[in-house]
Amino acid sequence: MVMRTYGHDEIETFAENTTMPVINALTDLHHPCQALADVMTIKEKKGRLKGVRAAYIGDGNNVANSLIEAAALTGVDLTLACPKGYEPERAIIKTALSMGAKIKIISDPGNAVKNTDVIYTDVWVSMGQEKESIKRKRAFKGYQVNKRLLGLARPDAIVMHCLPAHRGEEITDDVMDSPRSVVFDQAENRLHTQKALLEMLIR
Ligand code: NVA
Repeated sequence: MVMRTYGHDEIETFAENTTMPVINALTDLHHPCQALADVMTIKEKKGRLKGVRAAYIGDGNNVANSLIEAAALTGVDLTLACPKGYEPERAIIKTALSMGAKIKIISDPGNAVKNTDVIYTDVWVSMGQEKESIKRKRAFKGYQVNKRLLGLARPDAIVMHCLPAHRGEEITDDVMDSPRSVVFDQAENRLHTQKALLEMLIR
């Protein structure tokens, strides 16, 4: 069973009451299938995972939470720049740190991207949060991945996004369409990693 829900408790309740494997295809807390494609993409583009420096800019949401878990498992050194009140889930950070992960939560995007190999962002308003749209767009104003921010990263830094993107909000057209953007290879890798996941569970 592949499930995409809002409340994470819904998928947990379902999984507790069935004998079949349940794949989390996104909840408001986690997006693990995305994280699989993300680490595949980083490996593909940077040749390794351990020690790669990644910066996540924006909302400490489901994508950020799963990226923290993936970083903890693979040795990616991850700094997240989030506005106050929009940090990732505390328990997830705590577990990652207890595993020896190099995870930092800061608020300044410019500091986060300094010397980074990867810049990652996601929407400011996730599915189900449409009512908070105005408030969120105000809170995330300085968290856009644009040319200026990209200029502060390493010259070979790649740009990632789980898609769909809100162009002109969390990412500008020129960055999204630049040769540094790997978002469509990343999207393709969702297919390969999810096929691998199904194969592993069905075998
Ligand atoms: N954070 C976004 C991810 C979409 C793939 C959302 O939950 O809507």
